[in-house]
Amino acid sequence: MSKTTTVSFAKPSPVKQGVLVILAERGPVLSTSGKALDKASGGAVMRAAKQREFKGKKKTSLDILVPEKLGLSRLLVIGVDQLKDYAGKDWLELGGVIRGKLSGRDGPAVTLVLERPKKPRESVGEEAAQVALGTMLRGYSFDKYKTKAAKNKNDSVKNATLLRRLTIQCANPAAARRAFAARKALGEGVILARDLVNEPANVLGPKEFAAQARKLSGLGLKVQIHDEKALKKLGMDALLAVGEGSAKPAMMAVMTWQGAGTGGGKPVAIVGKGVTFDTGGISIKPAAGMGDMKGDMAGAACVVGLMHTLGARKAKVNAVGLIGLVENMPSGTAVRPGDVIGSMSGQSIEVLNTDAEGRLVLADVLWYAQEKFKPKCIVDLATLTGAILVALGKEYAGLFSNNDELSENLSRAGEATGEKVWRLPLGAKYDDMIKSDVADMKNIGGRYGGSITAAQFLQRFIQNDTPWAHLDIAGTGMAAPKRDVNTSWGPGFGVRLLDRFIADYFEK
Ligand code: BES
Ligand code: MN
Ligand code: ZN
Repeated sequence: MSKTTTVSFAKPSPVKQGVLVILAERGPVLSTSGKALDKASGGAVMRAAKQREFKGKKKTSLDILVPEKLGLSRLLVIGVDQLKDYAGKDWLELGGVIRGKLSGRDGPAVTLVLERPKKPRESVGEEAAQVALGTMLRGYSFDKYKTKAAKNKNDSVKNATLLRRLTIQCANPAAARRAFAARKALGEGVILARDLVNEPANVLGPKEFAAQARKLSGLGLKVQIHDEKALKKLGMDALLAVGEGSAKPAMMAVMTWQGAGTGGGKPVAIVGKGVTFDTGGISIKPAAGMGDMKGDMAGAACVVGLMHTLGARKAKVNAVGLIGLVENMPSGTAVRPGDVIGSMSGQSIEVLNTDAEGRLVLADVLWYAQEKFKPKCIVDLATLTGAILVALGKEYAGLFSNNDELSENLSRAGEATGEKVWRLPLGAKYDDMIKSDVADMKNIGGRYGGSITAAQFLQRFIQNDTPWAHLDIAGTGMAAPKRDVNTSWGPGFGVRLLDRFIADYFEK
């Protein structure tokens, strides 16, 4: 876990030392405090803006080192376009942009003045909390294995460790503080998910992952770990088949949060694929890029991060998180192509490719979730197919569902948070592609529509009309492109999406 900056909120008051960050809208139109600073410096701020052709455009900035007469070591003016157009996600990204401009050279403490140029006293409680969350997420870096001190200013280690305190001045700091309590819980959940995804597989196997899940009991969740013996007893032969080649025994962790009490009814179930490393098994993957398969547990990481958040912010919802934890290895005891295996549901599966292992894990965990909890709905997350990268790249996760309302709700939560999902079809003809000659189904559907046939496979383990959605996060859950709110390999995708989904559609 990387060190994060402590954020606090305060009433606006003049800042006469250190680093000060202010906002400017299009023009540039400086914020109220910006105008005061410009005046105090004899117009130095606007002169600098003119010189550098700074116009307050979004994602541009004006950096003034040791500005005349102000006592500051640095005045950073951030362009924001028009704040009246900002929704939650824009405030979040603004926080990310600001944090991205602050380096260790600035010293430990920075003050940010958050105000609307035209209405400086308007309360920005939730907005300030979103900005704070943005700085928290951008400040993250996974550097626990870097043993040498950073040598240049771009190094994330120095960046993350040296900015210790950020004070956000805003009109209503009490409201901001209240709003940030929940946002902070969310940030912790995202960072927990990132840490799990970034962690290498020699350190984080099924057992260690389960131990991370168990820690959530400290937040009031009920956590149950099922070991291999228990999984055998449950009849989880599909999940167990995946782990057979590994020296590390398979596990399942079940995390229950009863935030709505018994009156809250059946829980929402969130299921995650937790393949701690995916070699492909006997159908082994090529060497190039195989190291990325340490991230094949990003679905499970999201579930743990989400359950942390729900517990930490005391969400008024009943939710259960379930993760199947296995390592997919080739060995003398590994499942072979052509093998026929059973599953908890009773259905038989012909394993034609041992690299299509995620669906085998999820088949049993999905079944267990329904048998045990009769959930209101199930959402699963899995780094399931390379084909989803071909279809959607890294911008959208694939969404597959048997329920239009559930799909729309997830899509809306995706747009609101920037963790976007795009629905792809399911259908009988796709289902035909996984018919087997020797068993009830086979675990691959051929070259075309690979993400869809994988989802069809999962749907065979969904009972009657349980509203179900599957998110294929192979493109969005790992090896992430750098963004305003994330520069880490593991982005923690899905935590913000599902936290919002639950807050909007299941909490009163
Ligand atoms: N974990 C992989 C999918 C994956 C690929 C995740 C790239 C992240 C990045 C999954 O287990 C897998 O190997 N899927 C196969 C399925 C195929 C054998 C039908 C794939 O996508 O090639
Ligand atoms: Mn695989
Ligand atoms: Zn996999």
